[in-house]
Amino acid sequence: MAKTNYPRINAERLWQRHMEMAKLGATAGGGVHRLALGDEDIAAHKLLAEWANLHGFAVELDAIGNMFIRREGGDASLPPVASGSHTDTQPMGGRFDGITGVLAAFEALETIHEAGVETRLPVEAIAWNNEEGPRFTPACMGSATYAGVEPLAEMLAREDADGITMGECVERLKQALPQAGTRALGAPLTSFLEVHIEQGIELETSGNTIGVVTGMQGYRRFAVEVTGDEAHSGTTPRARRKDAFVAATDMTHALREALWDDEDRVRFTIGRFEVLPGGISVVPGKVKFVIDLRHADAEPLKALGDSIPEICQAHAHPCAVTTSEFISQDPMTFPEEMVSRLEAAADRRGYTHQRIYSYAGHDARHMARACPAGMVFIPCWQGISHNEAERAEPEDIAAAAQIIADMLIDLANE
Ligand code: HGY
Ligand code: MN
Ligand code: MN
Repeated sequence: MAKTNYPRINAERLWQRHMEMAKLGATAGGGVHRLALGDEDIAAHKLLAEWANLHGFAVELDAIGNMFIRREGGDASLPPVASGSHTDTQPMGGRFDGITGVLAAFEALETIHEAGVETRLPVEAIAWNNEEGPRFTPACMGSATYAGVEPLAEMLAREDADGITMGECVERLKQALPQAGTRALGAPLTSFLEVHIEQGIELETSGNTIGVVTGMQGYRRFAVEVTGDEAHSGTTPRARRKDAFVAATDMTHALREALWDDEDRVRFTIGRFEVLPGGISVVPGKVKFVIDLRHADAEPLKALGDSIPEICQAHAHPCAVTTSEFISQDPMTFPEEMVSRLEAAADRRGYTHQRIYSYAGHDARHMARACPAGMVFIPCWQGISHNEAERAEPEDIAAAAQIIADMLIDLANE
């Protein structure tokens, strides 16, 4: 049997592409602010499509705005093997979260194509829409809708703070990419791989280049709304107040008391806290906040999450409170076969590697429901992410892209 040719990826080109993408939504602090399907994110999709067109790769969009870049294989009727991640960022985010996975996948496609490697199956690079979720909830909207976890119509109807719907944004994306074809929502994939920065310090501490991801912790998100009465801050005595800020802060204190564990395994975060109407001489009549709760074990995640509504209710008086859960994902594990194959691929290239658990959420969570999926991490400086200072090294990015290129060739010829 002919020896498989595993071509080397172009590390310099891959790094330059990162720098090109970092210009789209660049912030003064050296990060990237590129919210899902805003102008900068649509520009990122257009840039990817331009690069794809250089090689005659087909570009398709599905109904929720996921983008598929395709290099044909011997049998176009067979479901492609794929790799990818997301182009959108958190507000004032970093230059690598998400985009590294998209660009590593694209570099793999280019490398395979330039080397003239024949594959039986088509090979694709994917940009999943709205992974981060700060503009439109839920996070991982594109991959969750692809996998049938979220309903399309409801997701397209989701609005941002300005009342713009995801559906309108997907239409804008399609207008920006008139040559893009249509991909049926949920069209099957044979397998899926994702490259991502670790967003933790395990790899930096161990000195390993590659983390082969074994699983991902679960998470639950709750929107809490506290309603009291606006009142004059000078004339209204405490006895006559329904101060939503006082009730909300009592709730958050009680939540912290209940959810902070001694082992520091529970991840309890309130990243958004709005005091309304926001007048400095107005007793707040409304407070809205969002809870992000995560855990690697399903049991504590269920028990702690289920306690949230009652804790909020117990500290609401004399205000009212509603808690609505809008995301609930159990912990998941990747198939051992894919974990082992990724380890072998790292060994073949002589990359140091270890198994690692993901405490962040990723699109691969949903892909693992649809097909055999796997994930590799690379180190990021001091584990800093969701932060303008986020940093990864070109040689680590190149190593991960090389593993993806090698793996896609194998998976596409099975
Ligand atoms: O929130 C997460 O875990 C992911 O980085 N969006
Ligand atoms: Mn990410
Ligand atoms: Mn992220």
